[in-house]
Amino acid sequence: MTTSARVALVTGGIGGIGTAICQRLASDGYSVVANHHPSEQEAATAWKNDRKGAGFEIDTIAGDVSSFDDCAKMIAALKESHGPVSVLVNCAGITRDSTFKKMENSSWRAVIDVNLSSVFNITRNVWEDMLAASYGRIVNISSVNGQRGQFGQSNYAAAKAGMHGVTMSLAQEGAAKGITVNTVSPGYIETPMTLAMRDDVREAIVATVPMRRMGRPEEIASAVAFLVSDDNSYVTGINLQVNGGLFVH
Ligand code: CAA
Repeated sequence: MTTSARVALVTGGIGGIGTAICQRLASDGYSVVANHHPSEQEAATAWKNDRKGAGFEIDTIAGDVSSFDDCAKMIAALKESHGPVSVLVNCAGITRDSTFKKMENSSWRAVIDVNLSSVFNITRNVWEDMLAASYGRIVNISSVNGQRGQFGQSNYAAAKAGMHGVTMSLAQEGAAKGITVNTVSPGYIETPMTLAMRDDVREAIVATVPMRRMGRPEEIASAVAFLVSDDNSYVTGINLQVNGGLFVH
């Protein structure tokens, strides 16, 4: 099988890190489809046109990753239009930061549903096709804060830590079946998500990064590109930290 035949689905594909991953995988010859939330249809159309203008042919597909039924429908439609998914990057994520004392039930639930349950909702719907093909590459985009916790992110840290639990388990289930499953844990990356933080809080955190700078989305994309490539045939179940030295474990 050549890489040009491989279908890569990136959830949250029109976001800050998602965009860089989509572009990198398109450059590497995959047939890339960027998932977005149904409410982002207009933004997704503009995103697709912008990518085309920059020389990237990337399709988009709507689907709420927090809904199992929506994911089942989206994957069925994608299979019909592009064929089965060979490469899956679970990148969709949100923040609802607050101290635990002030955290609403809705903020807890939203983050767990979108960041963690999404991994089940999407992966469950592509897993059997990967088993049937004896081939699959899955990367879960977690966070440094899933490894070390973060003041104001109990919901986010719980979801991101949970993602790696899924990775380690699925890596074992997929290992003899040609499927690798890995986590990439970004540190603080230049995206709308980190820009939304209070400037003083973000600057205080970035001052503690040994590399003294935030990461670039492309630096996450290159880690993903390696893990899903034919250069990687034996790495599975790992948590690849891409955080400028912020947390070394
Ligand atoms: N450790 C200990 N105490 C802290 C603290 C810390 N890191 N940060 C703040 N505090 C203390 C403050 O000094 C303050 O104390 P007093 O009440 O005694 O004055 C108290 O906690 C309240 O602090 P804030 O003023 O910050 O509280 P707030 O309600 O205004 O803000 C918050 C809360 C929005 C969660 C804010 O703390 C915050 O933005 N935290 C950072 C969250 C973060 O890192 N988000 C990352 C988003 S990007 C992302 O998630 C991508 C990724 O994967 C990295």
